[in-house]
Formats: sequence, structure tokens, C-alpha cells
Amino acid sequence: MALESMTGTVALTGVTGFIGSVLARRLSAEGWRVRALVRPASSKARKDSLAAEWIDGTLEDSESLCRLIAGVDIVIHCAGLVQASSKADFIRVNVGGVARLAQVAAKQKPLPRFLLISSLAAREPDISPYASSKRQGEMALASGAAGMGWTILRPPAVYGLGNRALDSLFGWMGRGVALILGPPNMRFSLLHVEDLADAVLRCLKGGVFAGQTFELHDGHPNGYTWGEVANTVAQVRERRVLHARVPVPVLDLLAKANTLLSRVFRYAPMLTPGKVRELQHPNWVCDNDEFYRATGWVPQLSLEEGLRRTLGLGPAIAGSALAQG
Ligand SMILES: NC(=O)c1ccc[n+]([C@@H]2O[C@H](COP(=O)([O-])OP(=O)(O)OC[C@H]3O[C@@H](n4cnc5c(N)ncnc54)[C@H](OP(=O)(O)O)[C@@H]3O)[C@@H](O)[C@H]2O)c1
Repeated sequence: MALESMTGTVALTGVTGFIGSVLARRLSAEGWRVRALVRPASSKARKDSLAAEWIDGTLEDSESLCRLIAGVDIVIHCAGLVQASSKADFIRVNVGGVARLAQVAAKQKPLPRFLLISSLAAREPDISPYASSKRQGEMALASGAAGMGWTILRPPAVYGLGNRALDSLFGWMGRGVALILGPPNMRFSLLHVEDLADAVLRCLKGGVFAGQTFELHDGHPNGYTWGEVANTVAQVRERRVLHARVPVPVLDLLAKANTLLSRVFRYAPMLTPGKVRELQHPNWVCDNDEFYRATGWVPQLSLEEGLRRTLGLGPAIAGSALAQG
């Protein structure tokens, strides 16, 4: 089948999450039949909001993964833990989940293609339990693929309505206070969630499944500092934004307290010592070149435009190619 015009059935995990919900909507709009894995206990499952075939199950349950994958053309594995109560939870979901899904997929006839949403964090696996689990998840796919075509995308921080941590930082900036959480020289790439969905669709259309790992970002070379992001918020809101640097010892203290509290009150903490180490890393800048050469994908949303949408200010450019996030 000519992949240029290909649609078919895609098995999607993580559909109740920030990125997966946008992927599901975009895949559906492009004519793909979406078969989605949903945990019965998910607090966010709204099965009536998307035309999809729903499979009740979890990444820990091979039987539901078999039902998810049977007969599909593509598997897009987007489910994962971005915050967890323990290293063991990160490993169970971000490594065990990939390994189990790859194992089930690699037994199908014909073989589906497999796209894994990893993370730029996987580039620095020693920095945190999350980063380590994402790298190990990549390795689990590469070693379990057994002849199946696969590709791995490593997005940097992805923003757009629905990323709770970034929404809250941008929300504070929108109200006039930018909390600067990293060192002044720290640079990081960003990507709007609609552009990430666009990149995934490009992979599917271009048939890029030769076992490669791609970084991708919003097209702004050399990334941003927190100060530059805050200045862009000030520009789109047309108001002053105060820069308030949070000293590392304060962040460390908050992270340790949060970790303790999470054990008492049994929640998955976002700010942890591992997250503080990620925030202090000076270089989270990535490179689009290889992905552009492989697929021709060009991101559409500048930080200014992406922030306008995220802050609910509406698009600045009339007739933008992408749907509103
Ligand atoms: N957000 C970012 O900035 C970013 C950047 C780079 C890479 N990523 C990667 O992108 C992926 C999605 O991130 P996100 O921000 O969309 O996360 P999210 O909003 O927390 O969504 C996570 C999704 O995974 C599902 N899930 C978690 N554990 C599961 C399990 N054991 N079985 C089945 N489903 C499970 C969740 O289902 P429930 O509704 O049941 O909890 C939810 O649908 C992750 O792999 C993450 O590492 C994210």
C-alpha cells in the first residue's frame, strides 16, 4: 500500500492524557480508525467525546493489549508516567509497558508498525528516575521489536492546554509573575502539542519506521531561557512580567517535602529531587534536522502563537493551518 495516502487502524495508548487526547482527535480527523486503550479507573475517560473503539485495560494486562493490537496497521504508544510515587512505578509503566506492548505487537501477522512517544529526557538517563525509565523504555522497544518497523520520537517539554505543570507556570506568568526554576544560562526547547500531533501524522504518512530515534522541537534554534519565555508571555499579554528566580536550595527543600507528603497522602508528586535535577540541567536543546530530512515536517506554531493559544488569547494569525488546541 502506498504510505503517502495511507490510513487504516491505529492502536493508541494514553488517549485520556494531555498528548494522547490531541493525537486521538487529530488521527480521527485525518481518517484513521482509532482503537484506544483506556484504564477502567481513569478519572479522565470521556468515551463519548471521540469516535473510537474503546478497549478497557491497562499496560500491565497482556490480554487487553492483544485485543488492542489485533489487526491494526500502526501502534502509537503514548501512555506513560510523567510523575510517579516511586522509581519502581516509573519502571513498571514506562519500561514494562513498552516491553509488553512491543512483545504483543511483534507477534501479530502481519506486523504493525510501532511509534513510541519517548522524551528528550531519555538523552540524560542518569539525571532522574523518569529519564532513566524513558531511556530503558526505548531500549525495550528496540530489543523487543523482532523485525517490526519502529520509530521513537523524543519531544522536549510539550505545552498547550492540558499540561498541568506548564499550564500553571504559564498561568502565573500571565498573571505577571514568572517563576524562574532553572539556572540563568539554562536553555531548553519547547514544542506545542498540536505540532507534535502533526509530526506523528507525518511519520505515519511518510512510513518512517526504520528503527530511528528523532528529536523534534518548535523550530526555534537553540531553544529558550526561562527569561525569554517570560518575556514572550509579557509580549503576548502586553503587560510587565516580574522574573522571580527560585533558588535551588528552596526548590530542593520543596521537592523533599513534596516527596514526603506524597507518601503520607498517597499521590504521585511532580516536584521531586529528580525533577529538580532535570530543571537544573543546562542543556535541553534539541535538533530538528534529522526528522525534517526523514519526513519534511516543519513545525507551524511559534512560541508566541502557541502561548496565545495556551493562555486563551486566540490565534494571532488568521487561517492558521492547525486546529485550535
Ligand atoms: N507532557 C510533556 O511535556 C512530555 C514531553 C515529552 C514526552 N512526554 C511523554 O508523552 C507521553 C504522554 O505524556 P502526557 O503529558 O500526555 O501524560 P499524561 O497527561 O499524564 O497522560 C498519561 C496517559 O497514560 C495513561 N497511563 C498511565 N499509566 C497507564 C497504565 N499503567 N496503563 C494504561 N494507561 C496508562 C494515562 O491514563 P489514565 O487517564 O488512566 O491515568 C494517560 O492516558 C508520556 O510517555 C511522556 O513521557 C511528555
